[in-house]
Amino acid sequence: MILVTGGAGYIGSHTIVELIAAGHQVVCLDNFSNSNPESVRRIERITGRELDFIEGDIRDGDLLEALLRQRGVKAVVHFAALKAVGESVEKPLLYYENNVTGTLTLLSAMARAGVTRMVFSSSATVYGTPQTLPLTEAHPIGAVNPYGQSKVFIEHILSDVCKADPGFTAVCLRYFNPIGAHESGLIGEAPNGIPNNLFPFITQVAVGKRAELAVFGNDWDTIDGTGVRDYIHVVDLARGHVKAIDYALKNTGYVTPNLGTGRGTSVLELIQAFERKSGRKIPYRITARRPGDIGACWADPALAERLLGWKAELDVDAMCADGWRWQQMNPDGYAV
Ligand code: NAD
Ligand code: WQD
Repeated sequence: MILVTGGAGYIGSHTIVELIAAGHQVVCLDNFSNSNPESVRRIERITGRELDFIEGDIRDGDLLEALLRQRGVKAVVHFAALKAVGESVEKPLLYYENNVTGTLTLLSAMARAGVTRMVFSSSATVYGTPQTLPLTEAHPIGAVNPYGQSKVFIEHILSDVCKADPGFTAVCLRYFNPIGAHESGLIGEAPNGIPNNLFPFITQVAVGKRAELAVFGNDWDTIDGTGVRDYIHVVDLARGHVKAIDYALKNTGYVTPNLGTGRGTSVLELIQAFERKSGRKIPYRITARRPGDIGACWADPALAERLLGWKAELDVDAMCADGWRWQQMNPDGYAV
C-alpha cells in the first residue's frame, strides 16, 4: 500500500492514476486546502474504482500513525505542501509550518509505524539562480524564497534521516515546470484565483477567462529575450513517481534526481505551440520583468534515467493539446 499525501492536487491526482495503472494499492490523504473533492471523483472515473481517501492534515500525527498502521503502508509519496512563491514571501511562517513542520510530523509518524520509504516532491527552485546550465544535481543549492527554502530544509532533514537510519530511503524528485493534463481531460491544473504560473494563464486566456497575457520581460539573454523553462508533461512527471516508488522499494539511501526533459522552451515559443495546437490566438503584451525571476532554467535529466530508468517522452505540443482539452472541458476547473 502506498500513502499519497496531497493526492487530490494537480500532480498528486495524476500520480495516483499512474500508480493504480501500475498495479499499486493507494490510500490518499488531503486537507483540500488547495484542491477540491471533485478531483477525487474524477480520479475514480479514470481508474474505474473507488479511491481509498482520507480527508485530513499532515500536521495530525495521531491520524497519520493510525492510517500508516491500519493500511499497512509500505511507502509514502509526499506531495502535500503550499507552493505559491509570492505568498511564501508574504507569509513565511505559514509555509514553514505547513511544509516543514508538516513533513516532520509525517516523518515522526512513519518512524512510529515502521515505514521507511519516502518519495518527496522537491523542486528545481532549490537551485536558486542557475550558475551553469543545464542544471545537474551537483549544482549549488540556494533557494531565494521561503517556499524554495522549505524544500531545501526538507531535503536536508531527509538526508540526515538517511544518515541516521541506513534502512531508510528518500527519493527527492526535483521537478522542473509541470504543465498539461491527463488525456481524458478529467483532471488537470486548477489554480485558485489569478494563476501565478504561465501555462494556466495561457489556457485561461484561450478559454476567455482572461483578456491577455503579460509577458514578463523580453530582454533576457535567451533565444528571443523571453524566459526559458524546462516544461514537462504532468503525466511524464507522474510516471516518474511510479519509477521512484519501484526504486524506493528495492533500495535504501538518499537521492535527488531532476525530473525534467532537458529541453528549454521560451515564453513566446510556448505561446506559439499553444496557438498551433488550440487554434486560439493568445493576445499578449510585453511588460517589466517579474521581481525575483530568472532568465533561463532547464534540467540535465541523466541521473533520473540512470537511477530510475525514467525519461520524459511527451513533447510541448502534447502538453499544449492535453492542457487545452482539460481547460475547454473545465472552464472553471473543478467548480461544479
Ligand atoms: P497542489 O496545490 O495542486 O497540490 C498540493 C496538495 O496538497 C493540495 O491538494 C492541497 O490541498 C494538499 N495539502 C497542502 N497542505 C496540506 C496539509 N497540511 N495536509 C494535507 N494536504 C495538504 O500542488 P501541485 O502542483 O500538485 O504540487 C504538488 C507538490 O509538488 C508540492 O509539494 C509542490 O511544492 C511540488 N512542486 C510543484 C511544482 C509545480 O509547478 N506545480 C513544481 C515543483 C514542485
Ligand atoms: C514561467 C515563465 C515567467 C507568468 C514556478 C515556481 C517554482 C515551481 C514552478 C513550485 C517565466 C513567465 C509567467 C506570466 C510570464 N513551482 N511568465 N507571464 O517561475 O519557472 O516556476 O513554477 O515548485 O517554484 O517559481 O514558472 O510558470 O511562473 O513562469 O511571462 O503571467 O513564464 O517570467 O519566464 P517558474 P512560471
